[in-house]
Amino acid sequence: MRLVFLGAPGVGKGTQAELVASKFHQPRISTGDILREAVRNKTALGLEAKACMDQGKLVSDAVVVGIVKEKLAEPVCAAGFLLDGFPRTVPQAEELSKMLDSKGQRLDRVINVLVSREDIVRRLSGRRSCAKCQAVFHVDFARPQREGVCDRCGGELIQRSDDRRETVEARLVVYENQTAPLIDYYRRKGLLSELDGSGSVEVVHKRMVELLAAQGLS
Ligand code: AP5
Repeated sequence: MRLVFLGAPGVGKGTQAELVASKFHQPRISTGDILREAVRNKTALGLEAKACMDQGKLVSDAVVVGIVKEKLAEPVCAAGFLLDGFPRTVPQAEELSKMLDSKGQRLDRVINVLVSREDIVRRLSGRRSCAKCQAVFHVDFARPQREGVCDRCGGELIQRSDDRRETVEARLVVYENQTAPLIDYYRRKGLLSELDGSGSVEVVHKRMVELLAAQGLS
């Protein structure tokens, strides 16, 4: 299974990618998670990425393409992977295509998750993430068992710095200008499927599994 999860910030693609990854035992590659870990560890990559992320801008294509190339070369990705948050620009998509061509591989499907702007704002403003393991919660829709504490590792739950209202607005503009063109890009290649991301996490997951099954991916 080689899938790309596409969609505006906060539509729930990370949540759904995680569920699909665990159901089908496929590795999930989230460029956002990798960049945030680099920021936390104050690596050279993290220092470079932080300024862009805090302003809601994209990190350079060269940097993220390098990250994904390294990840896809790992043996665990040989039999499949789920890309969450990559590609995000047409040049990134072209680089991905070259990477896969060089291994004689191809994408099975690109799933574009669709949610209203109102839902996006509610989902992002209430999101809380574990400072240690990056597990994702929501103050209303995915509450942890103990407030402020990660169910998975006991770490502290925090609000992502780019989930502040002004930064969310900036991320949505960046999405429209730089990432939304990928919808047509993949539609023209016959790879695009659209998924209604409204409703509870469980309802969306059920739709996702049905969509994959309809594509012969299960
Ligand atoms: P990234 O981390 O990829 O952020 P994003 O694309 O903006 O997506 P999000 O993580 O905000 O949202 P999501 O759709 O995954 O939603 P989630 O499942 O968490 O990127 C961050 C930054 O890194 C970028 O701005 C950029 O600077 C940089 N970057 C990353 N990749 C890059 C690339 N390829 N090129 C250049 N730069 C890059 O859900 C959101 C909330 O809603 C959660 O609280 C969740 O619990 C809740 N929720 C989920 N589903 C539901 C549901 N069905 N009902 C109710 N609540 C729900």
